Amino acid sequence: MASSHSATIELPQNVSTHLPKARNTHLTHMRNLEDVKEGAFLTPPEFEHPGYDKSDMEAVHFEHRKCVKPMDYVTFYFMKCLRKSFDFCTGYVEPRDVQHQIEIANGPKRMTREKWMTRVVVLESVAGIPGSVAGFLRHLQSLRLFRRDNGFIETLLDEAYNERMHLLTFLKLANPGIFARGMLYVGQCLFASLFFLTYVVKPAMCHRFVGYLEEEAVRTYTRCLQDMKLGLSPELYKIPVPQLAKDYWHLGDKSTFYDLINYIRADEAKHREVNHTFANLKLRGPGADRNPFATDVPSDPRPQPHKSLKDNRGTGWERKDLLL
Ligand SMILES: [Fe+2]
Ligand SMILES: [Fe+2]
Repeated sequence: MASSHSATIELPQNVSTHLPKARNTHLTHMRNLEDVKEGAFLTPPEFEHPGYDKSDMEAVHFEHRKCVKPMDYVTFYFMKCLRKSFDFCTGYVEPRDVQHQIEIANGPKRMTREKWMTRVVVLESVAGIPGSVAGFLRHLQSLRLFRRDNGFIETLLDEAYNERMHLLTFLKLANPGIFARGMLYVGQCLFASLFFLTYVVKPAMCHRFVGYLEEEAVRTYTRCLQDMKLGLSPELYKIPVPQLAKDYWHLGDKSTFYDLINYIRADEAKHREVNHTFANLKLRGPGADRNPFATDVPSDPRPQPHKSLKDNRGTGWERKDLLL
């Protein structure tokens, strides 16, 4: 009986006998020995970077959303408290103006390459937490309530992925010491737990907090760019851009560390806009809003949020201006 099934099946000539290529087996050969140490292959980014115009990136600057509601005051001063403590522990001085920035660069509180790297590695490691926690909680909510998510999960996970790319890039250039590594363990335990619990109760408050945090990220990277522009950190300007970063941000071979920081600052400006906007939306319950960054509305001429840096609103989009 079995012999009738063992006969060879004749396939038509035009049918391939090869298995189709699965998405997660699409691998790239690593290009140099340094990268091969971490594995011979690399998978392409699951969340591809949208790319920005140079003029839009150069236009990014520090912007602050004024506190209006009680939740704004609570989150803003909590964030300020965290930032001041971190600055104090790491000996970072925020310049008041250009003159002060030059004085700092010539004094003992000068930001060396090592100090910059430690700072950004710790900050980026923490920055990757909110998007992943919020995305995970919205995923659970969708499963629990048998409801669609209205497009938030992808944007949140994309943000977390983008922050992790910032971190992985800086890790190619830094070797964090035991103090920084210890801070990350403590920071993750406390911050991730607190963010998780608060997001369950008040998601808008969490997004406002992230919006304020991103304001500070833009401020920090603006200072870093200015240090390079003013010639205060020539050693930073000379840092070669890792291949991993060139691939992710589609940077050319002649790109400099300045270009890289310009892209990273623009990413932070995007996170600032997204999170301040999310904090203005109705995020739960019947009639909850859609994610305005996830879809375009080409039939309406009014400007709306989108993935690129065009029309970036540093203080977020007000709900009344959105087509929801
Ligand atoms: Fe970042
Ligand atoms: Fe960010």
